This record gives sequence, structure tokens and C-alpha cells, in this order.
Amino acid sequence: MRPALALRLGLWYGASFLVSAIALSVFTYVLLARALAAQDHNVLESMLARYTAEFQRGGLVGLQHLIAADEGEGRHERLLVRVVDARTEIVYFSEPPGWGGFDLSVLDRPLARDSEWTTIAHPPDGSVLEVGTRRIGGGVTIQVGRSSHVRDDLLANFRARSLEVMLLTALIAAAGGLVLTYVGLAPLRALENTVRSILATGRFDARVATTGTRDPLDELGSLVNDMLGRIQTLLAGMRGALDNVAHDLRTPLTRFRNVAEAALVSGDPAAVRDGLAHALEEAGRVNATLTALMDISEAETGTMRLALGAVSLREVADEAVALYADEAEEKGVALRSAIDPAVHVHGDPTRLRQVLANLIENAVKYTPAGGRVDVEAEARDGAVTASVRDTGPGIEAEDLPFVWDRLYRGDVSRSARGVGLGLSLVKAIVEAHGGTVAVDSTPGRGSVFSLTLPAARP
Ligand SMILES: Nc1ncnc2c1ncn2[C@@H]1O[C@H](COP(=O)(O)OP(=O)(O)OP(=O)(O)O)[C@@H](O)[C@H]1O
Ligand SMILES: [Mg+2]
Repeated sequence: MRPALALRLGLWYGASFLVSAIALSVFTYVLLARALAAQDHNVLESMLARYTAEFQRGGLVGLQHLIAADEGEGRHERLLVRVVDARTEIVYFSEPPGWGGFDLSVLDRPLARDSEWTTIAHPPDGSVLEVGTRRIGGGVTIQVGRSSHVRDDLLANFRARSLEVMLLTALIAAAGGLVLTYVGLAPLRALENTVRSILATGRFDARVATTGTRDPLDELGSLVNDMLGRIQTLLAGMRGALDNVAHDLRTPLTRFRNVAEAALVSGDPAAVRDGLAHALEEAGRVNATLTALMDISEAETGTMRLALGAVSLREVADEAVALYADEAEEKGVALRSAIDPAVHVHGDPTRLRQVLANLIENAVKYTPAGGRVDVEAEARDGAVTASVRDTGPGIEAEDLPFVWDRLYRGDVSRSARGVGLGLSLVKAIVEAHGGTVAVDSTPGRGSVFSLTLPAARP
């Protein structure tokens, strides 16, 4: 995996983390600034109220006493206090040390109302002085003010600390983001390595390393492994089938060649005719094998076109039996079909006839003289089971699972003609119909091949 992806994800992660941290501090900063300003304002309000009350009780003298007492107690350390009497003479003035620089002349302006608030800016350092002015009676005016110095310092400190914290956060977020994405992308890297190794070597036995945690990426890894397993099986199957097909076509084709050659060499017209007939027969066999292979692969891949409808099982069974009646009679095998005419299945009549014909062909072919072959059917629970029962040699238990495999031929059949595709075709067609196949056999007694299909809807 390109490191750029992990880096990009890590940076994105770090950046989004940082943006939220910045938003949070800006929000906190604004709230803090507002709270501090409100607090300063409240101090001024309460001082004004306190002096107003004192003046109303004890007049200018009482007020002066209170102010002097406050000053003694250090209450004016951070306050501007000014008292102006009726003759606009400043009776009292105090200002914290080191405050200078505010232009206080505006405080001398005549009042429009009994209570007013004034803010005086001090451009060089950006601080402001907020002054509350109140006419408290008898022409006396009291003014209490507070500069934003202290809270400005506090906020500046907050800003500086926030910046440091931000930088640290950014570092931690970026590092954490990198580590997290690197660890999080590990399953994808494993997947990528596996696919790369398969592409490089062409071997499908590589597997993605999974941890078994069942998280989505791990699950993806095991799914890919399952898929690789399937592909491997399919490839092996295809390779095997191809080998078998090549092998099985070679025999008739060689015979074909030999027959044609012998006929040509002999020059005898009768022998030529015989040779041609023989060659035709071999060509027919090759053709049948190829058709069967194509049909099987069509049925297995789901591309076989089925003309589905209600099919009378008795009719198709009778037609299939008729195909082998002569052969059975010649061989001395009793071939019978006994199916209730009411039994109907949902299927394609041509394909179902082909299925039954293959089963009957096998039964007749492998059952020795004096035996029987019976075709029966039974309807139950919306499904129909048709069976072809014979009294042939039967199949050994260990061979049973393989009879449905392509090109499989049992020992008993070595002497009989065939390629081993009949039962594969039966299974593929029945499964394409949504049905199932089964076989039950007792060696030396006989076999029952059966297929279950959905019953036709009435
Ligand atoms: N009724 C049966 N009794 C005993 N063995 C059977 C019977 N039907 C099938 N078999 C066994 O199963 C094998 C596979 O059957 P399948 O019909 O697929 O091939 P085949 O009959 O040999 O050739 P093909 O059908 O392609 O001409 C047979 O070779 C035979 O060994
Ligand atoms: Mg067969």
C-alpha cells in the first residue's frame, strides 16, 4: 500500500482533531471574555449603588467618610473613583497607579441623564476604561471606573497558553492519526500483499492473514480467502475436466483416423463404405460428448434456457422408456414404467425426458439379462420424486459419491460404452430446475436413482 494513503488519512485525522480543538478554545475564550467583562461591570454597579445609598443617608460628608474608609481598606486599588460637587469641582479623585494614558476629559462633559456609562479607549495597548456616572442628588455626581487591563492580561495569557496547547494537540493528533491509520490499514495491506503475490506467481494458494476479530476488514479478508479457495477448487476441477475431455476425445478421434486410414489403404469399395459408416459413428460419439459437456456447463452456470411448464411425468417417462424398449428386450431385461397420470411436475419436458433417458440408459446398460428396470413416481408435500430402480450390479458405497462427477466411470462400466457424462448431466439439469438427485444402491442387488422436482401448481 502506498504510504501516502496512511499519511493522508493520518493528516486528515490530525487536522479534524485540531479544528475541533481550535473551535472549542475559541468558544471558551469568547465565553471567558464575556464573563470577565460582565464581572467588572457588576463591580462598578455595586460600588455605585453603595455610594449612592451612603450619600442619601449621610450626605456628602458621609460619602467622603465611606470613600476614605474604602481607600484605607484597599478597595480602590483597581478602581477609578471621582466625586464632583454642585460647583463642578472635583471633591475626590483616585486612580490606580500606572494607569495613566486614558483621556479623562470626556468625564467632565455635562450629563444628559442621571445615570450614564462611558467607555474610554486607550489605543496604544487596546485596553478600555469603563466608567459609570451617576447623579446622586444635590448636584453631586459620582463616577466609578475600571480598566480592562487585568482581564486583558488574563485573556492574553489564555491565548498564549491555548496556542501552546494547540501546537501540542496538533502534534499528538497527527502522531495518533498516523499510528491509528497505520494499524487500522494493516488488514488492507495484508490483502494487497496476498493479491500481489497471486498476480506475481499465478498461484492461488496464497491466503490473506486474518486475526479472527470478525471486524469488517478482517471479515473481508476471510471472504477473500473463501473466494480464493473456491477459485482454486474450480481451477483444479477445470484443469482435471479438460485433461479428461482431451483424453476421452482422443480415443474416438484416433479410432476415427485409423478406420479412415484402413479404408483408404484397402481400396476395396465395400471396405471403404464400412469404414465411412464406422467413422460416422465415431464422429457422432465425439459430437454427443461435446454436446453433453456444453449442456452440463450451461446447466451449471445457469445459462440453460428452460421452457418451464406443467409436465406430465408419465408422458415423458413413457417416451424415454420407448427409446430403450428394443435394447432392453434384446438384452432380456424387463423395462416397465408405472406412473400415475395425475402426477405433474414444474419443468421443461425435453430436458426431463433427457434426464429420465440417461437414467434408464444406465439401468438397462448395467443390468444383466433376466433383470428388471422399473420407473416410478410419488407426489408428496408439493414435490414429486421419480425413481429408476434396477436389479443390476449395484455400486460400492465408496464409489457412490463420485457417480455424479464429470467423466467418472465405475469398474463395472469399463466394458460398456460411455464417457461418464450421463449422470453429471442428470444432476446439472435437475438442479437447474431447482430439484435434487439421490442414489441408493446395494452391491449385487441393484440401484435406485431418484430425482425430486417441484410439483406443478394446479
Ligand atoms: N444403474 C447403474 N448401476 C450400476 N452402476 C451405475 C449405474 N448408473 C451409473 N453407474 C455407474 O456410474 C458411472 C457414471 O455413470 P454415467 O451415466 O455418468 O456415465 P456412463 O454411463 O459410464 O457414460 P455415459 O452416460 O456418458 O454414456 C457409470 O460408469 C457406472 O459405473
Ligand atoms: Mg450413462
